[in-house]
Amino acid sequence: MTIETGVLQRYSQGAESIQADLCCPVDYDRELLALLPQEIIDKDYGCGDPSRYVQKGDVVLDLGSGSGKICYMAAQLVGESGKVIGVDMNDDMLSLARKYQVEMAEKIGSANVEFVKGQIQDLALDLAALNQQLIKHPITNAEDIIRLRAWQEKQRKESPLIADNSIDLVVSNCVLNLVHDSDKEQLIREIFRVVKQGGRVAISDIVSDEPVPPHLKADAHLWSGCISGALQEHEFLQAFVAAGFVAVTYDKWESHAWQVVEGIEFRSVTITAIKPHHEPCLDKGHAVIYRGAFSKVYDDEGHIFYRGQRMAVCERSFNLLTSESYNNQFIGIKPAQEHAPQSWCHASGSVRPAADTKGAAHKADGAPSCC
Ligand SMILES: C[S@@+](CC[C@H](N)C(=O)[O-])C[C@H]1O[C@@H](n2cnc3c(N)ncnc32)[C@H](O)[C@@H]1O
Repeated sequence: MTIETGVLQRYSQGAESIQADLCCPVDYDRELLALLPQEIIDKDYGCGDPSRYVQKGDVVLDLGSGSGKICYMAAQLVGESGKVIGVDMNDDMLSLARKYQVEMAEKIGSANVEFVKGQIQDLALDLAALNQQLIKHPITNAEDIIRLRAWQEKQRKESPLIADNSIDLVVSNCVLNLVHDSDKEQLIREIFRVVKQGGRVAISDIVSDEPVPPHLKADAHLWSGCISGALQEHEFLQAFVAAGFVAVTYDKWESHAWQVVEGIEFRSVTITAIKPHHEPCLDKGHAVIYRGAFSKVYDDEGHIFYRGQRMAVCERSFNLLTSESYNNQFIGIKPAQEHAPQSWCHASGSVRPAADTKGAAHKADGAPSCC
């Protein structure tokens, strides 16, 4: 059995009957669970609660949606103006999640959830459309495979399952570890592709404290059980930084390991990150002050910030560093008089002279300065 067929088989069993060894205790929001059918709650194979990051009006994508629990919780939070898309590659899980779609739409008061078939490492390819294509044009020889590849490429470009820059928040609950290691880099690139600029990710998953050795990775049962495919805790964050995300953070990190195999600890974590706006760096005279508690910090783009100094930043960095994602760690200082935008020409670590910003309203705690 390969890693992928093992995952397919294990979660078909999980859709059919409760698999106790796949369940990791999670403290979900009871109010959101109250509307959910018992079968969905029982067939919960998650390890965290990314629904906590959902905001009203969001378009949410849930990677590896399983029974649909996180999707139906998110649907209650996004409201009528938002939308939730669950993607899973397993027909049995998709059937289980869809079984309750009408009932949940009535309870929530909005039909704002859909479940689609796809592999999360290839979010452009619609596997339901691929099934239809194979019915019309079955594969009978090598040339058919070449033609099918061309059709897939066209589909990805012209009718992607999930379009570029279309999602406000990507969530996932205990799924990324199940993707083959050779596809993990592409998976995170795909997440980056589909998130809007300024959009967020909130991903609960399992990480290991040490690299997982090859003999454990080769164990298909440990892999499908969300253990041996786990990335090492540092690699997991780095993968998101390497894809271009910023503000990459461990928001939750369980102190107790969920499983220990051959001395390696596997634990549940939740990471959050944002996709920055792709705008040129323009200097209009903005500055930020890093509040502390460290003497200096670097952001994910390599800029350095010294505690207490008015560091020169472009308008894009100013908006990013003073946004919610940085938890009020920076005081934003607007230019006393915004000057005409100039291409960024300061070295990282340049201090903005106080004279350039003196008297400007600052964005501390979101309120203008009054002193
Ligand atoms: C551990 S379960 C988690 C299900 C759900 N997120 C939850 O919280 O209960 C993993 C789910 O991800 C799906 N899955 C695994 N690998 C996948 C992939 N590469 N693409 C799409 N779905 C995948 C499985 O079919 C299964 O439904």
